Amino acid sequence: MRQHVENFCDSCWILGGQVNQPQNQSPKFMFETLASGNRFWSISQPVTIVNMVIANLLILSAATRRITLKLIRQIALAATTLLLIFAAAHFIAQGQQPVTIKFLVQAGEANRFAVFAEDFHRKHPNINVEAVKGPNNTNLVEDLYTSAFLLGDSPYDLVYMDIVWVQKFAAAGWLENLSPRLKPVELSPYLDAVIRGGEYQGNLYRMPLRTDVGMLYYRTDFLKETGANPPETFQDLIQVAQELQQNNIARWGYVWQGKQYEGLAAVFTEVLQGYGGYWIDPETRAVGLDAPEAITAVEFLRETITSGVSPEDVTTYAEEEARLLFQNGETAFLRNWPYVFPLANQSDIQGKFAIKPMVHALGLDSGACLGGWGFGISASSSHKDAAWKFIQYFNQPSIQRQYFLETGYVPARRSLFTDPQLVQQYPHYPQLLEVVEQAVLRPPIAQYAQASDILQRYLSGAVTGAKSPRVAMAAAAQETRALLGGELRQRDWER
Ligand code: GLC
Repeated sequence: MRQHVENFCDSCWILGGQVNQPQNQSPKFMFETLASGNRFWSISQPVTIVNMVIANLLILSAATRRITLKLIRQIALAATTLLLIFAAAHFIAQGQQPVTIKFLVQAGEANRFAVFAEDFHRKHPNINVEAVKGPNNTNLVEDLYTSAFLLGDSPYDLVYMDIVWVQKFAAAGWLENLSPRLKPVELSPYLDAVIRGGEYQGNLYRMPLRTDVGMLYYRTDFLKETGANPPETFQDLIQVAQELQQNNIARWGYVWQGKQYEGLAAVFTEVLQGYGGYWIDPETRAVGLDAPEAITAVEFLRETITSGVSPEDVTTYAEEEARLLFQNGETAFLRNWPYVFPLANQSDIQGKFAIKPMVHALGLDSGACLGGWGFGISASSSHKDAAWKFIQYFNQPSIQRQYFLETGYVPARRSLFTDPQLVQQYPHYPQLLEVVEQAVLRPPIAQYAQASDILQRYLSGAVTGAKSPRVAMAAAAQETRALLGGELRQRDWER
């Protein structure tokens, strides 16, 4: 540029007072000529001062522009470097700054996490874990998570989820897709159905921690007194229970979860399977609630009350009410989840009870409802990586072993069912594995919460005797079909 300016000065009468002015050229031509390093040596015609001035200005502005560009480039480089230094410092500082990751969990279970949250914190001093206590009812905890998500930024980083919430939460966009963080080989140690229950549209949204499966608990000492075998079929159960009651061995024959809530849907799922029926086919969306098997299943539940085997109040019982009635020694049979086993074993009935798969219809197999809990990450969390670290921590077999030894819950990882340390403490684990492998999922569909709500309402009507099983289930089926958009597909089960 300097060269161009000198060239221009050489040829300019204004500056050098020379006669070698460019002739009759436009400022643009003069500028381009000068800029390309040529001089104007011969002048035959006078050039206007204006053109020369304009060319001069163009040269100067080009010079300034080049200088400015260079300057801007240097400033930009310095700014970027500074920015990078600040960003790195910020990230390092953030990594070192303590964060608290939170999740909501049923109050009865929250304390079980305390020792693991402490251990995790020791290993990750910048991450605190807080288990916020919620109600002891899966539906209510689900509602609290739902309201938090609907209100916007959820206060929960981790989502401790019942297996039946996953599709709804994932479809709503409330959960982080975990699949990109995992290799398929990390999932293969888990039970297939448990993984399937955590998926939505082929991606994983819930990492399993513990599984659950409905079981029949029975008093071995009571059966010994009458010489009866543990019941196999639904009718056996009613018969043996009545015999025990008539002989004043048991006050109540059978207690189960009859309250209008998710537990009732779980009980019904296994009775329905035991009669060979189905609720909703997740593939075809066919609804089987008004099929003969479903009506017979409801009739059995109602019969437990009309026969006096179950107390009338069973229609208000959740898991805990039923467990306490069994544990206080008055009841022969109980339907519940495996969490009851270690608790009952520390009560007065220690050593006097056993478990077996649920009873079923003659000629068919036992039904078992697959439950269970695991962790997802809230899509709106600002601490997703910290939340993932906690999930990874719980994904270690050694930590899970410790967790099951402490809690007596049931693993989701196959190998732990036969782990020597666990089997020594819980000899019933290998038997549970067989039951869990056969267990059925409640329909894994995004509208599950509404479908379950419909079922719970009509089932409750039928078990309390307010509606006949047939009328109740016809209405439940119709409403479910309307929910799934299949109003015209009546009596799917006949196809
Ligand atoms: C248990 C099961 C869960 C089920 C709930 C019903 O917590 O693990 O899947 O929905 O009971 O009360």
